[in-house]
This record gives sequence, structure tokens and C-alpha cells, in this order.
Amino acid sequence: MINTLSRDAQTDSDFDYWWEMEGPWVEEPNHRRGGISGVQRCRINGATYYIKKQTDHTCRSLRHPLGYATIARETHRLDVCHKLGISTPEVVFSQTRLHQGAIQAILATRELAGFSSVEAWQESVTDDFVKKETLDALSRKLGEILSRLHNSRWQHGCLYDKHIFFRHERKGSNEIEVALIDLEKCRRRLSISQASRHDIRQMRRHMPAMTERHWGIFNSTYRQFSYLSPNKGVPWLSTTDCN
Ligand SMILES: Nc1ncnc2c1ncn2[C@@H]1O[C@H](COP(=O)(O)OP(=O)(O)O)[C@@H](O)[C@H]1O
Ligand SMILES: [Mg+2]
Repeated sequence: MINTLSRDAQTDSDFDYWWEMEGPWVEEPNHRRGGISGVQRCRINGATYYIKKQTDHTCRSLRHPLGYATIARETHRLDVCHKLGISTPEVVFSQTRLHQGAIQAILATRELAGFSSVEAWQESVTDDFVKKETLDALSRKLGEILSRLHNSRWQHGCLYDKHIFFRHERKGSNEIEVALIDLEKCRRRLSISQASRHDIRQMRRHMPAMTERHWGIFNSTYRQFSYLSPNKGVPWLSTTDCN
């Protein structure tokens, strides 16, 4: 884990330090999985961090049949993506503790500086030419990185436009870097096609910015890099897939 904060912030009381950090909630904290989860945006020493705080927010696995903090799973998945060469927010602090009978967990990440979510960008872009060019490049890049994720049988699990961030590599350049966030639901599937089918169908429903033209670009780039057999039917990689 990379900890880029000052030494003062790296003592035994790190957990309290992050837990007590205050900032506006990005969205109202929600109650799910039998617990509470929320993300606060905080400024520390001139930099911005997103701090996810959860109480009794757990998930189960074969290894942890009684449940473990969802944040521990998300932190692991951030690491998986990083190892696959897929950009994700930099983790500065991630820890779980049992406190007065409750499981508390924190995941603090550094702001994806210079990036914008597809959702926010779509609401702000006004120039049709810029929009088309950017979406062409974004569709290609998404085809490349999602095929890489799925080739290892990993499924993001929540591919909405608010969780897909991007930036231009240089000002005026058409090269785009994509970063994925909110890996809470990311899990490994038994086959590439399971992961691929789930994520791509989900993305199709939650990426209103992309037109048929962009899905065409996405599909052909994805096929180029995917280990899925081109001879087997992959209806979700067609612009006429309506599931
Ligand atoms: N490192 C980050 N950089 C920029 N924005 C972020 C970052 N982490 C979270 N966010 C913002 O906070 C929102 C909530 O974070 P997310 O991980 O999706 O939490 P939740 O599990 O509550 O949905 C995201 O949709 C995004 O707008
Ligand atoms: Mg989210």
C-alpha cells in the first residue's frame, strides 16, 4: 500500500485520524448489506482524498463464510486491477477494525486528478466535434482495458458511467487514459464469457453517452484483444444485442 501522507499521519492512531476526518459526503451514506457506507471528500495539505467509511458493511466468501469488511475486498480488487495495468485510484489508507462490537472500515484514495467521470464529462461537454472524437478514443480504450480485465476472468460488477473515469494523456492529444473506480462488487467468474457478458451488458445500459457508432468501435477493439473465441457466438459484442 502506498502511503503518501506526512509522517504525523502514519502513527498507531491512523485509523482514528482518517475516521475523524470530516468533509462533505459525495452522496448521502447508504444503508445496505446490513450496515452503513458513505464517501467523504476531504482536503488534506492541499490535496483531495476520497474517504470511504463503512460500519458493519460486510460480504461473504468461501474463505470468510461469516463475512468480512467489503472495503477489504475492494482494496484487494484495486490491487488486482493495478497489477493488470488498469488505472485505479491510489490507495493511501485501508484498514478494518472491531470497535465496540462493530466492524469499522476505511478506504482512503487520492483524487484522480485531471480525470473526469464519463457521467460528469457528458453533462459538461458542449462541442459536438470534441464529443465525437473523445468518445471514439474512449470507446477504443475501454475495449482494450475491459478485454484485459475479462481475459483474467475478473468482472467489475458495477460498470456505470459514474465509475468510469478518463483523461487525455496530454492536452490536445487523442490518447486517453481510463481509470475504473468502485470495485466493491468486482469478482472473479468461472469463465471469461461470464465476466464479459455481465459487464458489457451492464455498461450498455448505463453509458448513455455512447451511440451505436461508439459501440461498434468498442466491440471491434474488444474482439481484437479478447481471448474469447471469435467462432463462438458473443451476442453481447454486437450492436444489435438487446439484453
Ligand atoms: N479517487 C477518486 N477520485 C475521484 N472521485 C472519486 C474517487 N473515489 C470516489 N470518487 C467519487 O465518489 C463517488 C463515490 O465513490 P464510490 O467508490 O463509487 O463509492 P460507493 O460505494 O459509495 O458508490 C464516485 O462516484 C466518485 O464520484
Ligand atoms: Mg459508487
